[in-house]
Amino acid sequence: MTTKRICILVSGGGTNLQRIIDAVLSGEIPEAEIIKVIADRPCFATTRAENHGIEVAQLKRGKNFQQQLLDAIPPDTDFMVLAGFLSILNEEICTRFKGRIINIHPALLPKFGGAGMWGAHVHKAVIEAGETYSGATVHYVTPGIDEGEIILQEAVAISEGETPDSLAKKIHEIEYRIFPKAIKKALAQLQEK
Ligand code: GAR
Repeated sequence: MTTKRICILVSGGGTNLQRIIDAVLSGEIPEAEIIKVIADRPCFATTRAENHGIEVAQLKRGKNFQQQLLDAIPPDTDFMVLAGFLSILNEEICTRFKGRIINIHPALLPKFGGAGMWGAHVHKAVIEAGETYSGATVHYVTPGIDEGEIILQEAVAISEGETPDSLAKKIHEIEYRIFPKAIKKALAQLQEK
């Protein structure tokens, strides 16, 4: 098994990024190296990467964004992980890295996915719809937003008086559990190809 070179894309606080960094360092995700963290905006996730000596790129959203992103991805990248990344990848990037990009989404896909469904918007929509369960999903990234094959998913019950904030906390706990497992699983599948 050869070490897989991973590029992680972020937009926020980066608690999932931290979980992945820790899992790579501890060997929970074996044979993996995080070679770069790419952010689409200023965010604390980049500080987390820098604290571990990981190369960081911070892009500007808007004009030429997809080209900036393509240019920022090291050519020897084996695998990409979207860890709270809020920009949409264009078809060219999805095609170039087909089967080699995964994303974490804070709901039970295929429900509550698609354009505009991110972060607190998802939790608000889930609560307003009167759902009794939500959860987190790790899936492959394809040109259709949040439509790729599911790798792992875990549910949590919605409590009486649940708020988007309280639900977000519960779902983050699930994410920290399933994300390293899903990455390990997807990397193992990559080895078989
Ligand atoms: C996570 O809950 C992740 O599922 C969500 O953003 C949060 C990032 O938290 N992603 C999306 O909503 C993508 N549609 P973090 O920065 O602390 O890892």
